[in-house]
Amino acid sequence: MISTLEEGRSRGLGLDGFRYHQGALHAEEVSLEHIAGAVGTPVYVYSAAAVRASFERLHRAFAPLSAELHFAVKSCPNLHVCRLIRSLGGGMDVVSGGEMERAWLAGTPMRDIVFAGVAKTEDEVKAALDGRFSPVAAAAGHFGRGDAGERGPVGMFNVESESELALIARVTGDLGVPARACIRVNPDVDAKTHEYTTTGLEENKFGIYADRVPALFDAYAEHPQVELAGLHVHIGSPVNQVQPYVDTVRVILRLLDRLEGAGHRPSVLDLGGGWPVDYHQGEAPRVEDYAAALVPLLADRVRRGLHVLLEPGRSIMANSGVLVTRVQHLKQGRQKRFLMCDAGMHTLIRPALYRAFHFIWPVRPPAGHLSPERRERPDLPDLVDCDVVGPICETGDFLARGRPLPEVAQGDLLAIFSAGAYGVSMASNYNDHGRPAEVLVDGSKATVIAERQPLAGLLETERRPRELQLAKESGTA
Ligand SMILES: Cc1ncc(COP(=O)(O)O)c(C=O)c1O
Repeated sequence: MISTLEEGRSRGLGLDGFRYHQGALHAEEVSLEHIAGAVGTPVYVYSAAAVRASFERLHRAFAPLSAELHFAVKSCPNLHVCRLIRSLGGGMDVVSGGEMERAWLAGTPMRDIVFAGVAKTEDEVKAALDGRFSPVAAAAGHFGRGDAGERGPVGMFNVESESELALIARVTGDLGVPARACIRVNPDVDAKTHEYTTTGLEENKFGIYADRVPALFDAYAEHPQVELAGLHVHIGSPVNQVQPYVDTVRVILRLLDRLEGAGHRPSVLDLGGGWPVDYHQGEAPRVEDYAAALVPLLADRVRRGLHVLLEPGRSIMANSGVLVTRVQHLKQGRQKRFLMCDAGMHTLIRPALYRAFHFIWPVRPPAGHLSPERRERPDLPDLVDCDVVGPICETGDFLARGRPLPEVAQGDLLAIFSAGAYGVSMASNYNDHGRPAEVLVDGSKATVIAERQPLAGLLETERRPRELQLAKESGTA
């Protein structure tokens, strides 16, 4: 079955391990019906072969730049997914102290972790510099990790503001630990993606304007503990056109020239993530097209010593995972047909938040309805427009609206495709639902890599109310 991961089939990085076999959808060699029967629904299922294929394809495409891949943990933070990607040679890109601890618990040396994130706290900066401040230090042994005190600082901070850089500089002084940092540049380039995931425009909260960057390199040139190693940029996600990356790299190259002209030696360029995938069949340009445009712009700099990093998340994980849900009830409204499922905005928020498209199809479709193209309106007979909705008390709780589907009965399983990125990581407990289980399939082996969150786990933080002992206000009688 793995042979079906042929590259020609999909134009983007959508190499996935999900295929119909003997009438039912399989992840690699494992039936999704069997997985749902064993662990219940909703459940996320990932294909290890698809993760490997997507990682390797990206790696190959940018090999002329010797680009190092740092997996964007936010896209799919499961420890075992991080371990798999680590085993392929990936570093980790994290945006919070929590993700940093996951990356480390997954076996990533701190030097291979890049710490981005717009509102880093002092506690997070401390833990990033010195493992003694790790909030999970005491539990590290459970994950096969040794003494957090020995772990050393992160390889790089990607700095989002002048005030964050000042905080990092102060904490390095307090702890006596040096830090390396890239400045995240806001290039004022439109990534032409959803307004909520556009990050490179002047009006966005991310990064520091290019014209302010040289002054920071001047100010920190002699700093005893902080080394400004280079520049970081991430313009949005997914970026479905090549040109915004080209425009961004041009801004960066001008800035690198300016910094070098002022006597600085920036040696790192982190180009961020945002590389797209096919949610619709054939939607995204191929990753090779991005590389073909960017490699010539950067090759000379790389020959002169520039070290290039990428932070892919979606392009590795989106099409490496599906969300499997069971139809709990059917309702024929006056205007439309509703399929009421146990997955919804609490397990996959992208349709509700961004109006994002996810292809949805029965795990065991009726005869004659196998393997359709993944598009909004498949060219097949006898389809009925349906709203695929969840159990949450919000009208915005939908996975698809007006979607043509074959006959579906109560109790049937549906697969929501391209759900491996920003699926479980954006799941919530809204309406007191536990987070779904996660299963990783590798060939014929299926492993539960996250148990369904039990209700007892949800209630844990509320178990023991305690009265706050507040400081008395001064000056009161
Ligand atoms: C700084 C940064 N790097 C990398 C990524 C990963 O983007 P993608 O998953 O589209 O590759 C993001 C996503 O939001 C990000 O904010």
